[in-house]
Amino acid sequence: MKSFDIKTTIYFGENALDRLAAIPAERILVIADPFVVKSGMIRLLTDRLQKVGKEFSVYDDIVPDPPIDKITAGVRVLLEYDADCIVSVGGGSAIDSAKGIREVARQMHPDRAVRLIAVPTTSGTGSEVTNFSVISDPEHNTKFPLVADTLLPQEAILDVELVKSVPPKIAADTGMDVFTHALESYVSTDNNEFSAALAEKSIEIFGAFMLRSYLDGNDTHARQKMHVASCLAGIAFNATGLGINHSLAHQLGAQFHIPHGRANAMLLPLVIQYNSGISKHSRSQAEYPKQVKKYCNIAQILGLRNFNTITTVRSLVSWVEYMMKEMDIPLCISELGVCTREEYFARIPEMADAAMLDSCTRTNPKRPEREDLEKILVEAW
Ligand SMILES: NC(=O)c1ccc[n+]([C@@H]2O[C@H](COP(=O)([O-])OP(=O)(O)OC[C@H]3O[C@@H](n4cnc5c(N)ncnc54)[C@H](O)[C@@H]3O)[C@@H](O)[C@H]2O)c1
Ligand SMILES: [Zn+2]
Repeated sequence: MKSFDIKTTIYFGENALDRLAAIPAERILVIADPFVVKSGMIRLLTDRLQKVGKEFSVYDDIVPDPPIDKITAGVRVLLEYDADCIVSVGGGSAIDSAKGIREVARQMHPDRAVRLIAVPTTSGTGSEVTNFSVISDPEHNTKFPLVADTLLPQEAILDVELVKSVPPKIAADTGMDVFTHALESYVSTDNNEFSAALAEKSIEIFGAFMLRSYLDGNDTHARQKMHVASCLAGIAFNATGLGINHSLAHQLGAQFHIPHGRANAMLLPLVIQYNSGISKHSRSQAEYPKQVKKYCNIAQILGLRNFNTITTVRSLVSWVEYMMKEMDIPLCISELGVCTREEYFARIPEMADAAMLDSCTRTNPKRPEREDLEKILVEAW
């Protein structure tokens, strides 16, 4: 027996932030990305809370790829303020921080219920609707996804006003994260018709609106569409899990601080080829594994259907590379300038070990050997 549910209530469309005036909470800790505070964007939230006389405090000691010590510091703040609700506003890092902070506080004080309302300011992680929180452990150079239903936000608010300021580079990286979520969910071993419908819609929107959204932050229609696509992909992968693309991206993020979506993008052409078994030199086979048909479905949604299975999967790989080039995302890690070749290769064994243990690996359509992951990391350089 299988089941599918969406426990987070999603507010979206024009003035979605107005929901804040009606949230059932008295004392609110706003956990915000520092950019949101510095840019003044925070007032879009705090003005609305103030207007209805809600008590709140703003906490913004948040960094990308949230490490354990920032979570611990946040727990102290949450408990001292004695909030009954967290409104988390920012990218995946701010939302994941809030999830981690609330979870630790809950385990310390199971009697104190704290509501979580997630307000994303990037269109990427889908963290507003997932039971994942990705935490970094800088001491061990690793990054791991916590997965538990208690991490799920009760509400998500998708308001396009908050994503207009995202610069093209971050729009590109986070957008590629959306595509990777949808695609990995679609080919996951735990996929089903419900998750597939969400993933397909997310990919259809990505195909139509990603480049528009990248090119112009004031293209409200395109930015709004990408914000919804991100959330759809989040719901999809929350139900199905992801795959080795994410297991490996977590390691690239932990070791070399490569932005999450960018790391995903650089791995994606290699992972599609690995999972499908189709590369430049492939010959046609009588029968392909299930995921190959799924990659072909996705190619069709993107308008890439080609003469046969091999050319269709290869056109999907080429299309991912084309999108990366259009959005100025380097195709390989050596182009990023984050480390030397020696530094990178020295860490490959460690990264492959950690990726094997990552919870995303379990639902990859093809069960990898450690050597397979090493090979992908070598090719990614
Ligand atoms: N929980 C999940 O389900 C899930 C899924 C995928 C990834 N993640 C994690 O989320 C994190 C990445 O999140 P992200 O990609 O959203 O990036 P992020 O939250 O780290 O933000 C990236 C940068 O964008 C800036 N920014 C955010 N909103 C902005 C805006 N509106 N305008 C201008 N700048 C803005 C931030 O200040 C930051 O410098 C990683 O740690 C990743 O592992 C979590
Ligand atoms: Zn991701």
